[in-house]
Amino acid sequence: MSLEIVILAAGKGARMHSSLPKALQRLGGKPLLAHVLETAASLEHSGIHAVIGHGADLVRRTFEIPDFPFAGVSGLNWVLQEKQLGTGHAVQQAMSGINADLVLVLYGDVPLVRPGTLRELIALAEAGNIALLTLETSSPEGFGRIVRGADGEVQAIVEERDADPRQKRISEINSGIMALPAGRLRQWLDRLDCDNAQREYYLTDVVAMARDENCPVRAMKIDDDREVQGVNDQAQLAALEGHYRMSKAEQLLAAGVRLLDPARVDVRGHLLTGQDVEIDVNVVFEGEVSLGDGVKIGPNCVIRDASIAAGTRVLSGTSIEGAAIGADCSIGPMARLRSGTELAAGVKIGNFVETKKAKIGKGSKASHLCYLGDVEIGENANIGAGVIVCNYDGKDKHRTVIGDNVFVGSNSVLVAPVTLQDDSFVAAGSTVSSEVPAGHLAVARKRQKNIARWKRPGKR
Ligand code: UD1
Ligand code: CA
Repeated sequence: MSLEIVILAAGKGARMHSSLPKALQRLGGKPLLAHVLETAASLEHSGIHAVIGHGADLVRRTFEIPDFPFAGVSGLNWVLQEKQLGTGHAVQQAMSGINADLVLVLYGDVPLVRPGTLRELIALAEAGNIALLTLETSSPEGFGRIVRGADGEVQAIVEERDADPRQKRISEINSGIMALPAGRLRQWLDRLDCDNAQREYYLTDVVAMARDENCPVRAMKIDDDREVQGVNDQAQLAALEGHYRMSKAEQLLAAGVRLLDPARVDVRGHLLTGQDVEIDVNVVFEGEVSLGDGVKIGPNCVIRDASIAAGTRVLSGTSIEGAAIGADCSIGPMARLRSGTELAAGVKIGNFVETKKAKIGKGSKASHLCYLGDVEIGENANIGAGVIVCNYDGKDKHRTVIGDNVFVGSNSVLVAPVTLQDDSFVAAGSTVSSEVPAGHLAVARKRQKNIARWKRPGKR
């Protein structure tokens, strides 16, 4: 049976008290709607319809930037719901574009539902049922309640604000997620009214209509309540972020990663790990990161879009972004590797060293207090403390090339474009603005003058 998916994401999320539409609030580093789109795209489907309204332009623009992973979701169709007249009205807006046998309704603010759960729900609908995803909970407040008849069959869904005291005591709640036949859904939606406490067209009212027409309704109770938790306010978003963090940490532990504290590592993206990887506390991974065998990450590091090869140690307080780091390097503490940094094996980058577009050869070292931008450094070079590469002349960036076995003395300034050939040596405190030939010593500073019989200024 063919299936199309409708994602409801037009709501404002007033209780978030944010200028950002709710669909764009971030969980695990990406918009809530991105999580749902990703899940939807992983199912077999013949179309995805995202119903948007509040901040629709911004939502669409966010998802349509070329390098955003969802620009290419096959068959993604944006549907505009200009006024948010309710969940039933929202689904109705998408119906004209739907040709499939079945419709799966997902909520843009329920981001952690698993594809496996949805496949089960879809199978229930394929067997001819209206399939609802529900949850048994001790705190049903705020949710639609699943009303069952004496025979135990689902009769209706009653919203909290329309429920009588007896119905409010029902502990089975509606997740909002459902799968149902498209043809009948279309007819039921056409018959919805807004005769309820919120004056809205409720999608949930189709359940009672189905019962009236003797269409079987089946509720699939979920075990893991995290899957159906919605985001309505910042507290719920923070709670969900905690769940998300924990599930990522559990995956790492299962893969054999040593986490000093699973509650204090955030994976906001994809993290690939080798064997015997160790991650200390308060480490944040963003984007695509890979860590080779035996890599150790110290506390308080942020690592984004980077590959770190086997045996490398990243010491505390280090920030890495857009870097490819070879094996057996030592980085930090408190180093900053920026985009375009490429380190060969055995490189040492010490405290307060910043690199950008820096290609550094095997065994080279910059141990303290440097800026290395737009630079290529050969093997076994030693960059002394306080060396600054002046790559920017106020208008353009220029390159610096440093050969193999070069020694750059402390507090030297290399004014780009400039080349220091293999085996050259720069005396400490030099300002180097022209090429240093191979094997030469460059001294580019004033000679020291000692003044005899000098008197210190005395106190008046
Ligand atoms: C809804 C369900 C409730 C369920 C709860 C689960 C209805 C009537 N109620 O209530 O039974 O327990 O979800 O979280 O369906 N939306 C639109 N357009 C609209 C209204 C809503 O796109 O006109 C979207 C929202 O952006 C949101 C989703 O639909 O993503 C749910 O809307 P919300 O107003 O949060 O519904 P609830 O009152 O939570
Ligand atoms: Ca909600």
